[in-house]
Amino acid sequence: RNKKTIAVIGGDGIGPEVVAEGLKVLSATVGADSLDFVHYDLGAERWLRTGEVLPDSVVDELRQADAILLGAVGAAPGSKTIPSGLLERGLLLRLRFLLDHYVNLRPSKLYPGVPTPLGENITSRGPIDFVVVREGTEGLYCGVGGATRAGTPHEIATEVSVNTAFGVERVVRDAYERAMKRRKKLTLVHKHNVLVNAGGLWNRLFLAVGEEYPEVETDYLHIDATTIAFVADPQRFDVIVTDNLFGDIITDLAGAVTGGIGLAASGNINPEGTAPSMFEPVHGSAPDIAGQGIADPTATISSVALMLDHLGMTAEARRIEAAVDADIAERGASKRSTTQVGDAIAARLS
Ligand code: NAD
Ligand code: IPM
Ligand code: MN
Repeated sequence: RNKKTIAVIGGDGIGPEVVAEGLKVLSATVGADSLDFVHYDLGAERWLRTGEVLPDSVVDELRQADAILLGAVGAAPGSKTIPSGLLERGLLLRLRFLLDHYVNLRPSKLYPGVPTPLGENITSRGPIDFVVVREGTEGLYCGVGGATRAGTPHEIATEVSVNTAFGVERVVRDAYERAMKRRKKLTLVHKHNVLVNAGGLWNRLFLAVGEEYPEVETDYLHIDATTIAFVADPQRFDVIVTDNLFGDIITDLAGAVTGGIGLAASGNINPEGTAPSMFEPVHGSAPDIAGQGIADPTATISSVALMLDHLGMTAEARRIEAAVDADIAERGASKRSTTQVGDAIAARLS
């Protein structure tokens, strides 16, 4: 089968706005004879209308796709109609877990000329170009825990971080493999001074797997010190491997220091291909700017490039990356609409 099927989930807020631009650029790059798009109506509206978040029948269909492109899901924090996390856990996290997206790949690169909160004393030291390999199927995201005596002054709430040797080893190995294809430097980020059980497991497997990659230079940073390094010495990083929650937090920070969250792309990868991988911007549904046509679609467009890479369409992926690079280099401080950015990048491709 030559023609690939892309399942498209626009989702909520700015999700459909940015996905439309991602598809625009995709269509300008790849012939209509090589890709099929199947759109799925999922998200807040679907839930309000039908009570469904992600029906099993839709999961079965999504499994048949070659890849999934997602915008974002989730209501405004504090929404009175949609419970916090209902869509995020019921759709996004459910897909990451069911489709075994254990590698959550989040590259960060500071493009020349892009506004950054980093000072000239930092940016002048050299290129900032690193990738976070965030574990995607374990940790504090498993929903293990509970609350006893809920609602009383004696309430006890627990969230358990689940870390398996199997789960840690496979993501650590993937990170070493990626380091081998890059500048051969890998940093483990954790907090093993406090989280002795999970941290101990991560550290041991990080060192053990490292024996198989003698060419890769390794180091370790605690999560708190990592946030300093992202701001004070981001050039030190090549590949970072970390758990699910630490990876969530530092990739928003990584986005912020490398030109803003509107540029940060990601892939939820199932490296063995036992299920389709899913590509999405790192940002959320941004209810504060939804419907205004001002969301930056660049992160989604770059996620499309990651998707093509994963599908083996590497030449097309490089072309999109080049078009994004060129657009970013020229955009300066201009305020363009969502569609203007998509049009400009698409125009470089057709
Ligand atoms: P957010 O990423 O949606 O927004 C954070 C800030 O970044 C906001 O000020 C927003 O306007 C801005 N921003 C985000 N994307 C932008 C873009 N493309 N261009 C310009 N500015 C952009 O995070 P939040 O406000 O914490 O979350 C909003 C909702 O999204 C919540 O329901 C949350 O759970 C959900 N969420 C979903 C995903 C996902 O689906 N992958 C990811 C993160 C958050
Ligand atoms: C992300 C998001 C999700 C996460 C939320 C919405 C569940 O913040 O993709 O970074 O925490 O993984
Ligand atoms: Mn996040």
